[in-house]
Amino acid sequence: MAQSIGLTKRLLYRCYHMALRLALFVYPIPRPKCFKSAQLDSWLAELKQQGIERLLVVTDKTLLTLGIAAPVITALESAGIRTSIYSDILPDPDIYEIESGFTLYTQDKCQGIVAIGGGSVIDGAKLIGVRAAKPHKTLTQLRGLFKVVRRLPPLTAVPTTAGTGSETTVAAVVSNRKQQDKFAIADYCLAPKYALLMPELSKGLPPFITATTAMDALTHAIEAFIGINGTQFTNQKALSACKLIFENFPLVIQEPSNIKVRENLLNASFYAGEAFTRTSVGYVHAIAHQLGAKYHVAHGLANAILLDVVLTEYGETIHDKLALIADYCDLGDKGDKKIDDRSQKAMLVIEKVRELKVLANLPTKVDELDAKDIPDITTAAMKEAHPDYPVPEFWSSNRFDHVLQQVLA
Ligand SMILES: [Fe+2]
Repeated sequence: MAQSIGLTKRLLYRCYHMALRLALFVYPIPRPKCFKSAQLDSWLAELKQQGIERLLVVTDKTLLTLGIAAPVITALESAGIRTSIYSDILPDPDIYEIESGFTLYTQDKCQGIVAIGGGSVIDGAKLIGVRAAKPHKTLTQLRGLFKVVRRLPPLTAVPTTAGTGSETTVAAVVSNRKQQDKFAIADYCLAPKYALLMPELSKGLPPFITATTAMDALTHAIEAFIGINGTQFTNQKALSACKLIFENFPLVIQEPSNIKVRENLLNASFYAGEAFTRTSVGYVHAIAHQLGAKYHVAHGLANAILLDVVLTEYGETIHDKLALIADYCDLGDKGDKKIDDRSQKAMLVIEKVRELKVLANLPTKVDELDAKDIPDITTAAMKEAHPDYPVPEFWSSNRFDHVLQQVLA
C-alpha cells in the first residue's frame, strides 16, 4: 500500500518551510567574497593583511599529481605565505581523513585553509575548519544543524569542477565508513570566507565529469526555483544559472579547453550554489542521494538521470515555474514560431535537459538499480525530503516508485 502524507502533516511541513524562509530574512546566510583569476593578487593581499603566514592546502592526490593545484600553491609561496599540503581527501571524505588533516593543521600551526578541488575536497576542508574551531568536539557530536556556532579559520574555496557549488554553501557531508554512516553538518559559519574562481583549473577535466557536474549545478538551480522557498535573490540566481548552463553545456562538449565557456559554467555553479543553499533542494536530490548511498552512483550522474524524469512526474504543478525558466532562457523562440502555451513551454525545459544528456552521452537508466530495492529507496528518499525540502508538492510513495521504475535498466 502506498505511504502517503496526511493533511495535518502537510500543514505542519508547510509551517516548517515558512519558518525556514523567515529565518533567512532574520539571519541572512553569509556570502563568500569572490575573486576571479585576474584578481589573484587581491586575494593574496587580503590574506596577508590578516597576518596569515601559513595555510593548510587541502586537495586530493590526482589534482596534486596532475599539477592542477600548483598555480595556487605557487602563488601563495611567492607571496610569502607558506603552505602545508594535505592531499589525502577521497570522494565522500571519511571522518578519519578529516582528523588527519586537522592533526596536520594543528602540528604546523596553520592560520587558515585553502581547498583546491571538487565538492568532496571543499567539504573536507570545511570540516577540518570545523575541528579547528571546535577541537574538543568530534564531528559526530556536531552532526545536524547549527551545532558549530563558532567562527572557522579563514577558508578559501577554489573549485576545480563546475557543479557542487560547495564554495558558497553552508553544509558539508562526511562519511563514517566503519559504521556505514554518512551525515551532514550545516551551520552558517561553514560558508567559505573567500571563493577563488579560476576556470583554467577545470580545462583538463574529463568530459564525463564536466557533464555530470554541470547537470548537478543545473539540478540545484531548477530545484531551487521550483521549490516554494525561492526569494527574489535566489530566483534570479537560479535563472541565471539555468541560462548559463543551457547555453554553455553544448559548447563545453565541443570545445573543452575554451576558458570563457568554463568560466560561464563555473559562474553558473556558483549562482546555483547561492540559490540552493538558501532554498534547499528537492526530490531529485532526495532520490539521487539514496542511489549514491546504496550503489555509489556518482552524485552528478544520479541527478542527470533523474532530473527530467522527476520534472515530468511533477506534471502541471510546476508548469508555471518551468515556463518562466523557458522564457528567461529563450527556449520558446523557435524562429518565426513563438510558443505561448505554458505547458508547452514547460516541456521545452524538460526536452532541453534530455537534449543535454544526449549531447554528453549520459545514460538514462541506473544500471545498478535492482527492482527489489525500490521500496527501501523510496522510504529513504521520503525520509530525507520530508519535511526538510520545500518541494512544490508532497508525493506519496507510489510517485517515487514510478520515478524509480522509469530509470530501472
Ligand atoms: Fe547536488
